[in-house]
Amino acid sequence: MADKATLTIGDQSFDLPILKGTTGPDVMDVRKFYADSDLFTFDPGFTSTASCESKITFIDGDAGILLHRGYPIDQLVEKSSFLEVCYLLLHGELPNAAEFETFDHNITYHTMLHAQFDRFFEGFRRDAHPMAIMTGAVGALSAFYADSINVDDPREREISAHRLIAKMPTIAARAFKYHMGQPFVSPRNNLSYSENFLRMCFAVPAEDWVPNPILTRAMDRIFILHADHEQNASTSTVRLAGSSGAHPFACIAAGIACLWGPSHGGANQEALEMLEEIGTVDKIPEFIEGVKARKYKLMGFGHRVYKNFDPRATAMQKTCHEVLGELGINDPLLEVAMELEKIALSDPYFIERKLYPNIDFYSGITLRAMGFPSKMFTVLFALARTVGWISQWKEMFEDPARKIGRPRQLYTGATQRDYAPIDKR
Ligand code: ACO
Repeated sequence: MADKATLTIGDQSFDLPILKGTTGPDVMDVRKFYADSDLFTFDPGFTSTASCESKITFIDGDAGILLHRGYPIDQLVEKSSFLEVCYLLLHGELPNAAEFETFDHNITYHTMLHAQFDRFFEGFRRDAHPMAIMTGAVGALSAFYADSINVDDPREREISAHRLIAKMPTIAARAFKYHMGQPFVSPRNNLSYSENFLRMCFAVPAEDWVPNPILTRAMDRIFILHADHEQNASTSTVRLAGSSGAHPFACIAAGIACLWGPSHGGANQEALEMLEEIGTVDKIPEFIEGVKARKYKLMGFGHRVYKNFDPRATAMQKTCHEVLGELGINDPLLEVAMELEKIALSDPYFIERKLYPNIDFYSGITLRAMGFPSKMFTVLFALARTVGWISQWKEMFEDPARKIGRPRQLYTGATQRDYAPIDKR
């Protein structure tokens, strides 16, 4: 491809440099375009706009490919662990044994929360949605850990990153326990990241908690599958918040708030609730008619970037079967989901719009079988995505070209007019 594009407007021509990526589409650099032409580019949903340069995650939505630092997601899910993927996302390379040991130790020894956090939780209503608790509690971390919020100090940035990855399971488990009306369970340093999280969620004082390696592995895989996903809405929110120099706890709280929306991370709760509403296979045709009549969307289907199978959905479906098999659960909703998927994949309405199952379609059934209520699903997503958010925040911060994010607009409101007193309106 040429190294520049030429845009002609009337009798003026503008040269726009073409910047080359290592894979995927190149980009047309419009940074000087406004200064040269007095015109803005217009792309409200960012459908044709690259908002940053990044080396972390690559998606080819047409081919159904997802790579973290070059490694395919299916290989990471099968062969790696969530903590190793965290290191990879943060540092760019897989760790050697010594590097992993140090990282594992750093994360493990940051999992406890300040004792006063208990009182902070008690301020929430009992029926508070766990995502509401997450947004508040993560935002409040800066009030407890003010010694690591100097964003200009690389060491403090690193400590904040470790604290966030380490404390998120503890906060998420407490949001769950508070929601359930059960006592908090403290982290244990001799357990793995995912086993520790499951124990903090499901152990009760009345009996010994027995780990199940299949469920621990499933939890770890679910975390890997949600760890990062390029410049999605919540990640872009984190980057935009961070561009002003805001500290990472505030930026991640902003990301959590964005993730909660039903078009984004909130879809996993809605996808399960939709399956519950359909209930049985014989109700599917009627439900599909409602989708086609645009009364509602088929939750867990469609994606802005994937116009093919979401590779995470394939891995999620496999994990779903493993978990249900291990627990001996014969969930009728799995039958509904599989039939719904079959019908949707052969129906012209969905084929024409390239609507395939996304990761949320099977995650709800899996998480429900593991014992999580649907209100916790987005919390688990936020827990896992924290490493992606913080890696992208760190990358943005270390970029010498960093500028505060400041989009412009196409103004279509009133032009200048004079103020009229109230009796003259
Ligand atoms: N069910 C039915 N129709 C759909 C769906 C769906 N789930 N998704 C998109 N469509 C239709 C739209 O109505 C539109 O049809 P039209 O061209 O006839 O008007 C067409 O497909 C294109 O849809 P857009 O809304 O333009 O696609 P966009 O890229 O903006 O939206 C999104 C992507 C938000 C994910 C959408 O597919 C959706 O709402 N899906 C359901 C929610 C969901 O599962 N979200 C999870 C996303 S993955 C994640 O965050 C982990």
